[in-house]
Amino acid sequence: MTIGIGLLGLGTVGAGVAQILATPQGRHPLVAALALRRVAVRDLQRPRPIALDPSLLSADPEAVVDDPAVDIVVEVMGGLEPARSLILRAIAAGKPVVTANKAVIARYGEEIAAAAAERGVYVLIEAAVGGGIPIIEPLKQSLGANRIQRVSGIINGTTNYILSRMADEGAAYTDVLADAQRLGYAEADPAADVQGGDAADKIAILAALAYGGVVPRSAIPACGIDRLEARDVAYADQLGYGVKLLAVAEQVALAADGAAELDVSVNPTLVPRDHPLAGVHGVNNAILVEGDPVGRVMFYGPGAGAGPTASAVVADILNIAGIRQVSGVGSSGQPAPLDPLLAAGSWRPCRLVDPALTRHRNYVRLRTSDQAGVIGRIGTCFGDAGVSLQSIVQFKPQAGGDGAHAEIVVITHEVPESAFRAALAAIEALPVVDSVAACLRTL
Ligand code: NAP
Ligand code: HSE
Repeated sequence: MTIGIGLLGLGTVGAGVAQILATPQGRHPLVAALALRRVAVRDLQRPRPIALDPSLLSADPEAVVDDPAVDIVVEVMGGLEPARSLILRAIAAGKPVVTANKAVIARYGEEIAAAAAERGVYVLIEAAVGGGIPIIEPLKQSLGANRIQRVSGIINGTTNYILSRMADEGAAYTDVLADAQRLGYAEADPAADVQGGDAADKIAILAALAYGGVVPRSAIPACGIDRLEARDVAYADQLGYGVKLLAVAEQVALAADGAAELDVSVNPTLVPRDHPLAGVHGVNNAILVEGDPVGRVMFYGPGAGAGPTASAVVADILNIAGIRQVSGVGSSGQPAPLDPLLAAGSWRPCRLVDPALTRHRNYVRLRTSDQAGVIGRIGTCFGDAGVSLQSIVQFKPQAGGDGAHAEIVVITHEVPESAFRAALAAIEALPVVDSVAACLRTL
């Protein structure tokens, strides 16, 4: 039985998918049963990295979805619209969907899942988080017995690639970002990568799967690496830490109504050099899942790029194709019975807690006058606010400094965010303090 694939998009990921479909030799035998029927692109004249029969291309994505020869719709065009409407259109036509589009799933996942459940079709999203790393299906299925305490990870390949090259080679931010775009790692608008929005989309999806409910994407605080200064990376290094863009979802309480109360955020974070996430470099991603009773499980691998992402997309297509094959769909025209785990849905409410009530370790860089008693006064402000310190260090002023100023770096123990903010407000009011120059999280 041949299964018709309609591809929406033939960019980095779409071309990677087409490449796998065109070369089935040595892969799972079901790959040979997948036939690329139509491909939607925006610009029919654009040169493509893969040779395709030009008659497959169309500038009308709705026609691709509606084509009766298309059994599975693969959405790899990106953006919110028309991607969302096309996914819903495919579902309404009873066609399963595979998508790599975390922006759409993070915002419209509930609407899409409800439509899919009602119509009895699968929407699979393995490629939406972690590129080639299997993390969606493991969270839905293999770790389903656990109470998940925390999901944390490096889930944006572009920023990890930038941070790694800046740290290893002293490369300039804009040069490395241009390389990440050329290599197909970055989003169409790389602001989503460097400002933390892409990682926030992904942690919204992981948290929803880990905690069993919809996590409001718009409420997730996200800070990226676009304002990170090289001197903070250098100071962190001297203190024994690497700086990573970490996305974290943690259950802080179980409310009386059964809702999971979550602390979810994206922040540049100091990671101790001996922590498993510190060794994740380049375009690689890693997701650390902590659960009861499994303990700590880490998923690691290439987090972006054509091949790794297409690997995840095609795996989802094969899952659907396999179910269709065993259930005889196509011959009977009936939808396949949904596997409740593959089609995971919400089972409890989730809420984000007030950020002021969360607890974290912090790194702070203060620009101060270089005079006796400054460190004492800063320490007193922290102490008065109940913020316990792990270390307070004065760094040599940067070359070209005026000699009258100092840079003081503080690392706190885990403290309530409200106490930390109160301490910073008191410190900023000290006449000897010029500014709170940087504030990062610390693991
Ligand atoms: P891309 O290289 O920009 O490709 C997008 C493709 O979609 C292009 O072929 C484009 O056509 C087509 N397209 C866009 N809007 C269209 C429209 N309105 N009608 C018809 N065709 C349209 O993007 P990508 O990097 O492959 O990413 C695709 C999706 O995968 C995004 O959701 C992204 O977040 C996700 N993703 C990407 C990666 C990665 O490493 N790149 C990894 C995981 C997930 P033209 O070629 O004619 O412009
Ligand atoms: N732009 C994304 C990243 C692609 O760099 O991680 C993978 O989702």
